[in-house]
Amino acid sequence: MSARIIDGKAIAARLRAELAARVAAIQARGTTPGLAVVIVGDDPASKVYVRGKARACEDLGMHSQVHALPADTSQAHLIAFVRRLNEDDRIHGILVQLPLPGALDSRAVIESIAPGKDVDGFHYQNVGSLVAGEAAAFYPCTPAGVMKMLAHEGVAIEGAHAVVVGRSTIVGKPMALLLLNAGATVTICHSKTRDLGAMTRQADILVAAVGRARLIVADMVKPGAVVIDVGVNRMADGKLAGDVDFASVAEVAAMITPVPGGVGPMTIAMLLANTVSAAERAAPRVSSVQAGN
Ligand code: GUN
Repeated sequence: MSARIIDGKAIAARLRAELAARVAAIQARGTTPGLAVVIVGDDPASKVYVRGKARACEDLGMHSQVHALPADTSQAHLIAFVRRLNEDDRIHGILVQLPLPGALDSRAVIESIAPGKDVDGFHYQNVGSLVAGEAAAFYPCTPAGVMKMLAHEGVAIEGAHAVVVGRSTIVGKPMALLLLNAGATVTICHSKTRDLGAMTRQADILVAAVGRARLIVADMVKPGAVVIDVGVNRMADGKLAGDVDFASVAEVAAMITPVPGGVGPMTIAMLLANTVSAAERAAPRVSSVQAGN
């Protein structure tokens, strides 16, 4: 193997340590950052994710609430529930776990979250800022985590050709926009792309986010590329596999993220970072009079 492994777990641990200091500083101003996670129904994978998010908050000394609502929750009830969280001063970030079951309209629910508490960065106001290339209150956690990893590893983005495989609202599209806003030339590929390999071979930075196990193999990767694997696919043997065939691609890439231990830990760390930022905006500053100056 020639590629350097980008250790997402270690980068996320460092970020969490920085966040712990920021949490302590906010607490000194009388506010504890609070995240509310709303989960509807009992999808087992979603439950695991939600538990992980709550635990990560608590480990950092933050306030966390998990609201588990039944699968038959009505749209009106869910929106009213979110609106109450909008008004709750203990809560700085609100996350409604997706996908929502049944006939619930995810878009309407997301739009009911106050944009300043939308720590997922999914509200149209935050999406619009990202599209416009202006500062958004929050950027979606997974792509923001990838940007942090690239920065941490000193990867030059300006002028690089970035190829994003996947066009989801949660990862692919915001990933492409963040890279574009940072000065990359960006190609977005997806399930209808003809000759995917011809596209991916042009990538200086290749981000795979399609949810197809080991789709990206060595001959689809330019020697020396930086390869970021967002995929988390559960295999028949119960093990996790990324969208990248790690063993073969590690022979040609300059840097590569593993699965697990790559992008995954960064996603939760960015959720914490977004919640801490929201609390910093909300917490009253100690005035110069109170500070005794
Ligand atoms: N489901 C899968 N990923 C996510 C995410 O980042 N945020 C929310 N709210 N739901 C998800």
